[in-house]
Amino acid sequence: MTTKQQAKILIADDERAITDGLSAILSDEGYTVDVAVDGQKALERLSNDAYGVILADLKMPKLDGLALLKEMQQREIHTECIIITGQATVDSAVQAMRQGAYDYIEKPLNSEKLNRLKALIPKAVDKFVVKQTNRALTSELANLTHYGELTGQSEQMRSVYQLIEAVAPSTASVIILGESGTGKELVARALHAKSDREKGPFFALNCAALPKDILENELFGHEKGAFTGSTNEKQGAFELAHGGTIFLDEVAEMPTDIQVKLLRALESRQVRRLGGKREISVDIRVVAATNKDLEKALADNELREDLYYRLAVVPIYLPPLRERVGDIKLLANEFLIRYSRQNNKKVTGFDDAAWEWILSYNWPGNVRELKNAVERAVIMSRSSTIGAADIVPRHLRASGEIPAVVSVPVGSSLADAKRQLILRTFASTGGDLDRSAKLLGTSTGELRGELSRLLGPNGADGGGARPEKRPVSASPAKAKKEEPKAKKRR
Ligand SMILES: Nc1ncnc2c1ncn2[C@@H]1O[C@H](COP(=O)(O)OP(=O)(O)OP(=O)(O)O)[C@@H](O)[C@H]1O
Ligand SMILES: [Mg+2]
Repeated sequence: MTTKQQAKILIADDERAITDGLSAILSDEGYTVDVAVDGQKALERLSNDAYGVILADLKMPKLDGLALLKEMQQREIHTECIIITGQATVDSAVQAMRQGAYDYIEKPLNSEKLNRLKALIPKAVDKFVVKQTNRALTSELANLTHYGELTGQSEQMRSVYQLIEAVAPSTASVIILGESGTGKELVARALHAKSDREKGPFFALNCAALPKDILENELFGHEKGAFTGSTNEKQGAFELAHGGTIFLDEVAEMPTDIQVKLLRALESRQVRRLGGKREISVDIRVVAATNKDLEKALADNELREDLYYRLAVVPIYLPPLRERVGDIKLLANEFLIRYSRQNNKKVTGFDDAAWEWILSYNWPGNVRELKNAVERAVIMSRSSTIGAADIVPRHLRASGEIPAVVSVPVGSSLADAKRQLILRTFASTGGDLDRSAKLLGTSTGELRGELSRLLGPNGADGGGARPEKRPVSASPAKAKKEEPKAKKRR
């Protein structure tokens, strides 16, 4: 579809000579053109029909150009506006641009002005189309609960999806930031899968896991005889990832002198094997990740700044799980289904106390910790429902961590309040009956009775949790919060 077919043009002016003249010229140019004789009529047309561009006179009866712009904004009409103005009103035209008009043209519309207008319109139409595509993308992704292998329906995850969708087709280097266990590797895989390199290799290298010499060898490979014992040549990660994506995990842990070599390879898109002279050209998309506090890593010269800017053309920040509580339930249910199936168990859900605990715990190990906790709970569970005692991670069994507040809205019944207090206390102790009874000022036997009424026969079962102290909340880990820059498609 050509630009001209994509967007209709509306001319709004009360001067017949201008509307007739412009209509004729723009129709000749191949555009579909409509005319409105005042601002009010223009607004009606804009509301009822989709126009890419409006040419609006600044001074019109009923609704002038500026007021029209304002109305358009309020009604979320995204048509690009080119203001036509008499010389005396150039100031207002400038104000119109501040208000979001695309550009303005001064009367009289002589041939020079008309040429300018003819050049301006396709650009305005392009802008309209790009913005429209991006809006479509936003609403397309607005209801997503999954993307690639990623699960999440929070606003934050949806903007991550949108960012991946927008940058995947390019070759821009991406750095993924976020605490451990937030899904950085899954994002890297999604970037690869959504790109046109999808059929090429995805090569992941953990820069923290390998000693320096081995890391260098893995990255760049070596020629035969490069060092004692190198009886064969070896391709490095760059060569192996040719035509695909290389994922440099924990990139801030890379020794500085290798960072220099990496930088050179990134700049020249060429690598030289250890002991080799030949420059080998590589076509790769580089995705890096780190869970480090980047500002600190840069300040401490652990990560070279020049390398950072090379890698971080587009940063994608993955928020910790505790900041997207909306995703916790979705993930927990999904992991439950996955691990029940894998372990051949008929576990179908979590009970209220388990949910209380799951939703209020702050998950310092993020999705990985949640996944492991659910897997363990499924394996341990002796009934079809997971109780608090099953789900609390082992290391927290002695120190349940949960907000110590129960909020009971006015209008709740006494039974409701009692129920909440009992469940929350029980959850906060990690499912410890004795300790919960003590906190509630009742006996273990009585609490067991209450709980089995509240939770059914399985909820209070499980044992094993023997909390002693409620700890201070775990310190939030320190990955630097970098808002992902919303990159527009195109
Ligand atoms: N949004 C998600 N949806 C489904 N699974 C997830 C999600 N995020 C993480 N996971 C799972 O949690 C685990 C950790 O994810 P991943 O390895 O991508 O984290 P990471 O950010 O790379 O952590 P680290 O910094 O420790 O390497 C993986 O098993 C992954 O499958
Ligand atoms: Mg990782």
